[in-house]
Amino acid sequence: MAYAEKDILEVLETQEALRERVAALGAQITADYAGKEPIIISVLRGSFIFMADLTRSIDLPCTVDFISVSSYGVGTSSSGQVKIVKDLSESIEGRDLIIVEDILDSGNTLDYLRNVLMARKPASIRICTLLDKPERREKDIQADYVGFNIPNAFVVGYGLDYAERYRNLPYIGILKPEVYGG
Ligand code: IMP
Ligand code: MG
Repeated sequence: MAYAEKDILEVLETQEALRERVAALGAQITADYAGKEPIIISVLRGSFIFMADLTRSIDLPCTVDFISVSSYGVGTSSSGQVKIVKDLSESIEGRDLIIVEDILDSGNTLDYLRNVLMARKPASIRICTLLDKPERREKDIQADYVGFNIPNAFVVGYGLDYAERYRNLPYIGILKPEVYGG
């Protein structure tokens, strides 16, 4: 994407690397959930592209649903305060959930979401995140499926944004710090 080239410091995961890794995650989920019918929950908006590719790599009967959360504050790190902006459409009671996130950073978002969804009595919950920044963790939370561990840098593309921009880049790139005044 020509429009963004000047803002990207380095491409961290190419389109090809993403394609291969997402297919591998889908195959692993397919094997792990054999005989089940999971509900795959996309955390909006950052996971929308990952969700679209991942679900097409899962060879199982499954349903999909969407939840939108916001963490208060702007800039490049989330606050500890999270709220649901758009809730799921379906009941999850007794279902096997796979929560699909773009990135696990401090863990505040997924820790909150996991607790909220747990209270609705699903049969099981697992977390699938495309990216993991383990260095930044504040909450005791790990993903069951991780696409890539990445260093502590602010990344955009393949669904991830800075100030709602760059989501349509087909790769994951490190944003130049001067773009966000870092
Ligand atoms: P956490 O609550 O700190 O784990 O952050 C999770 C959310 O923060 C993600 O769903 C993203 O929306 C956002 N986030 C964290 N790190 C990045 C990044 O490097 N690029 C874009 N968004 C990020
Ligand atoms: Mg997000």
